[in-house]
Amino acid sequence: MAVLEIRKYPDEILKKKALPITEIDKNIQKLIDDMIETMYKANGVGLAAPQVGVSQRLIVVDTSSREENQSLIVLINPEIINSEGEVLSEEGCLSLPGFTTRLKRGEKILVRGLDRKGKEIEIYAEGLFSRALQHEIDHLNGMLLIDRISPLKRELFRRRYQKVKK
Ligand code: NI
Repeated sequence: MAVLEIRKYPDEILKKKALPITEIDKNIQKLIDDMIETMYKANGVGLAAPQVGVSQRLIVVDTSSREENQSLIVLINPEIINSEGEVLSEEGCLSLPGFTTRLKRGEKILVRGLDRKGKEIEIYAEGLFSRALQHEIDHLNGMLLIDRISPLKRELFRRRYQKVKK
């Protein structure tokens, strides 16, 4: 296993729509292990493959450090098939260090995808787990937190972020 470099805004790969995984081969298994290690090392609750430079539809999520009855989830080609309710909460992203924002997300969701063995699974999620899944699936569609905030807030973010980088 290896800790991978996490791509940060404005890396172009974060804006790309990731491609579905058609074969769960040895390379994908290694990528999964590396992403898990990278997520834990960064103290994150989720990570999407584009964040480590791979434009494929794979996410790992583990909110067990902050929520009860949760565990590590690996999802290949995940899709949100149902969403109920709305909830406003604070959110951050490993690709946007130092930035958090309050964001409305679906409250309870149903997600379908494949596990690392290629078996189809459906996951019902709420709480932080639901938010993390939605956040990581956004990454697969080339979408970051800052694409979900108002244009004014986004502009403020851009100005501040440029300063921080210098
Ligand atoms: Ni993120």
